[in-house]
Amino acid sequence: MDALLTTADRALRTVFAQHHSSRANPASGIADASLSDSDKREAAALMRVNHVGEVCAQALYTAQALATKDEALRLHLQAACEEETDHLAWTEERLKQLGGRTSLLNPLWYAGAFGIGFVAAKLGGDAMSLGFVVETEHQVEAHLQSHMQRLPENDKASRAIVAQMKADEMRHAQEAQAVGAVALPTPMQGLMRVAAKVMTTVAHRI
Ligand SMILES: [Fe+2]
Ligand SMILES: [Fe+2]
Repeated sequence: MDALLTTADRALRTVFAQHHSSRANPASGIADASLSDSDKREAAALMRVNHVGEVCAQALYTAQALATKDEALRLHLQAACEEETDHLAWTEERLKQLGGRTSLLNPLWYAGAFGIGFVAAKLGGDAMSLGFVVETEHQVEAHLQSHMQRLPENDKASRAIVAQMKADEMRHAQEAQAVGAVALPTPMQGLMRVAAKVMTTVAHRI
């Protein structure tokens, strides 16, 4: 019951609350460049996609923490989830500065990612669940790398945030690997890529 309440609380806070980071925003101290309206719109769209990615990360980690019976793994997942909160806060802040907004479909993204994370953890077990973390973090990292090409050249603030997130995601993958992740079957990696493609395409607009 306790675990369920914690899960529900986390879900509501992720989707509806404003977040505060424990680390400084990598963009703080960077003077905001004068961006054209179209550059601002594009940067905001990309940062919205990144924000949705973080909403999904919260959902995945929370679902996996609920699914596992291993207390040490639960703590590992909860700590990872806390760190991802920084990413939520930074992308939220940047979106606001760019005059953008978070995705209207966040409750849906959260529910979808939560369902996938929970089923993967229950069906595959802990090692597979960690494999899921590794694969997710790798895919997010690759995606953030592509944003370094797509973000307007002089949007240094967004770039600083994306660069720090990318470094963090790489470390998250390594940490999950270190505590016993197994590689996911290739079809599952493909499915995750398809789901991510749907999410990134839709979140760019809505
Ligand atoms: Fe993240
Ligand atoms: Fe991560």
